[in-house]
Amino acid sequence: MKESAKSVYKRDAINYYDQPMRSSRYDPVKVRWEDKICQDHYRKMVNRLTEAGEKLRILDLGCGIGYGYHLISNILDDDVPIEEDCCKLLEADDIEYYVGLDINPELVDMAKDRYKDDKKVTTIKCDFLNDVYPEKPFNIFFSSGVPFSHFNDKDFSSLLEKIFDHIKSFGTSAFLVVDVLGRYSIEWQSQWDEPSWHIYNMSFFSDGKEKEQIYMKFWGKELNDFVLEAAKKACVKAECFDTFDRSIFIGRHIDTSNFNPNLKKMRAMVNGLFYPQQRAPLQEMFMDYTYEDGPEDVQEHYKRITYYWNYTLATACSYLDIPIPDWFKINVAYTIPASLKSSQEQLGRVVKDKERYKQTDDFRADVFEPLLGQLLRNIEHDYSEGLGAAHTLISIFEVIA
Ligand SMILES: C[S@@+](CC[C@H](N)C(=O)[O-])C[C@H]1O[C@@H](n2cnc3c(N)ncnc32)[C@H](O)[C@@H]1O
Repeated sequence: MKESAKSVYKRDAINYYDQPMRSSRYDPVKVRWEDKICQDHYRKMVNRLTEAGEKLRILDLGCGIGYGYHLISNILDDDVPIEEDCCKLLEADDIEYYVGLDINPELVDMAKDRYKDDKKVTTIKCDFLNDVYPEKPFNIFFSSGVPFSHFNDKDFSSLLEKIFDHIKSFGTSAFLVVDVLGRYSIEWQSQWDEPSWHIYNMSFFSDGKEKEQIYMKFWGKELNDFVLEAAKKACVKAECFDTFDRSIFIGRHIDTSNFNPNLKKMRAMVNGLFYPQQRAPLQEMFMDYTYEDGPEDVQEHYKRITYYWNYTLATACSYLDIPIPDWFKINVAYTIPASLKSSQEQLGRVVKDKERYKQTDDFRADVFEPLLGQLLRNIEHDYSEGLGAAHTLISIFEVIA
């Protein structure tokens, strides 16, 4: 082999080949579940702006590699005719500009490189708590990946004041997306009764080998009053536009067991529903977890979601003639909503028609299980309540100067 060819292999190929074959940061649970649920909620906010004739002017606080730009520009339209090739909600010029701020210079450099050909994108190394923001109006103050959970109450109040002051200085209105860690995730159930500012670790950054421990703030539904109170102090009108829990049974710490060793590796199993040519262990995926601590509404929420989850799996197993766990019983205290029931029946019709899918490699892995995965996701999508009963709690506020 020529020297130049050797160096190409050395330089580029190692990184290229050294990627995980299956699970990674951008696993199906992230892309088809977590991001999709967020994007469905962001769609309502974005539609509100575009329907009012506004272009999007986004400030992404703690932007990392600029993932917020990817999330917003790739929101799907929920009603595109099948013959159209593009199913995205936004046209390129619907976004006027996106400015990403991050304290980490390496991530900012990666974002710069990633979006070097897109004139609408600017990323700046900036401490968004203490540094000055760009002097231009924004109509979305965005966050994703829980950057505001790095702040205790005092600093979070200062941050909100700073954001509201910026909105006031331009006399406009804007949306504020607050994305924080949920206080009552089953991932850290042993800490539900502790003060809401406690140790978190980012072991999934390093495949669980090194435990990077830091203090973070975990929020329940008191988040909304906290933000509204800060708005009042800053003399801006604000109201909660949307609030939801995301990653109820599939957050990354479900699988690391760093805080709660009693959990099944549900994220990996749900990923198995989406991977081609791989069957997921459906009988293992029933949630047999009990919720004894925490506020009553949180417990009730978990019981309901757990029942919908298990009932859906039981229905799926029955269509495939797979025995369901003995302990699972019909509970008349919970009625399965009509829309969920109808989606479950749809699964049954697909199984009845399985002969039509002969050209696929494995009917169960490639047709049935991805549909089941979307159905389980839709339970979280449709019935989450914004209680902080999941890995992430996201609230969107409409702020009027
Ligand atoms: C988990 S990452 C999320 C990154 C990105 N938003 C995403 O969704 O992929 C949180 C980010 O917040 C940034 N961050 C934390 N505190 C910050 C601060 N005071 N100013 C600017 N960035 C901050 C971190 O550097 C990190 O990139």
